[in-house]
Amino acid sequence: MKRIALLGLTGSIGRQAVEVIDASPELELAAAASGSRPIDGLAPLTQVGGDLTELLERAQPDLVLNAVVGFAGLPATLWALERGVDLALANKESLVAAGALALAAQGRGGGGLLPVDSEHSAAFQCLEGRSRESVDSLVLTASGGPFRGRTGDELADVTPEEALAHPTWNMGPKITVDSATLANKGLELIEAHFLFGLDYDRIEVVVHPTSIVHALVRFRDGAAIAHFGYPDMRVPISYALTYPERAATPIPPLDLAAGLTLEFEAPDLETFPLLGLAREAGEDGGTQPCAFNAANEVAVAAFLEGRLPFLGIAEVVAETLAVVDGSPARDLDDLVEADAEARRLAERSLAAA
Ligand SMILES: NC(=O)c1ccc[n+]([C@@H]2O[C@H](COP(=O)([O-])OP(=O)(O)OC[C@H]3O[C@@H](n4cnc5c(N)ncnc54)[C@H](OP(=O)(O)O)[C@@H]3O)[C@@H](O)[C@H]2O)c1
Repeated sequence: MKRIALLGLTGSIGRQAVEVIDASPELELAAAASGSRPIDGLAPLTQVGGDLTELLERAQPDLVLNAVVGFAGLPATLWALERGVDLALANKESLVAAGALALAAQGRGGGGLLPVDSEHSAAFQCLEGRSRESVDSLVLTASGGPFRGRTGDELADVTPEEALAHPTWNMGPKITVDSATLANKGLELIEAHFLFGLDYDRIEVVVHPTSIVHALVRFRDGAAIAHFGYPDMRVPISYALTYPERAATPIPPLDLAAGLTLEFEAPDLETFPLLGLAREAGEDGGTQPCAFNAANEVAVAAFLEGRLPFLGIAEVVAETLAVVDGSPARDLDDLVEADAEARRLAERSLAAA
């Protein structure tokens, strides 16, 4: 029996994870947390808000599923990695912000780090058992979001409701807006760099509107291995929770004869500049990825509250990245300070917008 602590139970990933856990006799929900919504009685141990590592200390789980949204998920990520407790990571923001510190903690703790993001779960599976020398490059796919194909002019007045209408995935509001701006793929690019130890010039992003191919790895011998599946987060959640087994899920087998459309195109980096800004932040290193994430969180919240136009999200992030210090974080205190500084600068840029 694997005892699971599920952080972010009330969210999109959290609710799907409960389905996966309920369906598997080998998985037990030992503890659960949310940010503010009540969860009494849904697990033997629960916590709403506050320091989630207190819940983890009480629960001593076999695996932490971190499905909190945003930088708020960082302490739980570091708690699990430092102690060698297996971590199923949906909270990409923590790895983006704290990549080097997180990997150092994992090196000390020695536990597993299993990606829940569908692209990274796919890449993990394509890469498993292969030497890094045999890998030529990794390709992450992006649906392109609801605004694929639009021009900048056509995006000037889009509303949060339009941005929240994702064509292929049903997700929480922050990641859905990130998908519409392509910031999500930028976060995933940085996440992939840390997870798989690949330089940025060996990670490519292509738009694939039907979200059937989740990732593809090209090898030096000319072969490419891709991961196919219907877009349903219960698959990567189940894979991370039951790894190295592969539990059954209710997802139907892929029907190739039903007319799957496999189209790929280059992302429009001019109309959606956040993907390029993320790549630059990743290449610059230090706390630039942390600042990218912090400024993006501030800007997305402002957009959802109607305080910032859609195109303003990228402007706030660009202005913040241009002025942050960006030097590497020696420890968690440094990182928390870098995150706070970027938030202050992003708020200043918002106020001027
Ligand atoms: N949804 C997807 O399909 C998907 C796919 C890949 C990756 N991810 C990643 O998974 C994470 C969660 O995404 P989501 O779509 O599930 O988000 P969501 O629906 O907005 O859910 C977020 C969860 O985090 C909790 N939370 C927020 N702030 C918290 C805090 N300070 N302390 C404790 N809990 C807090 C929320 O609790 P309350 O309900 O109480 O606010 C909620 O349970 C994100 O990092 C996202 O990028 C999601």
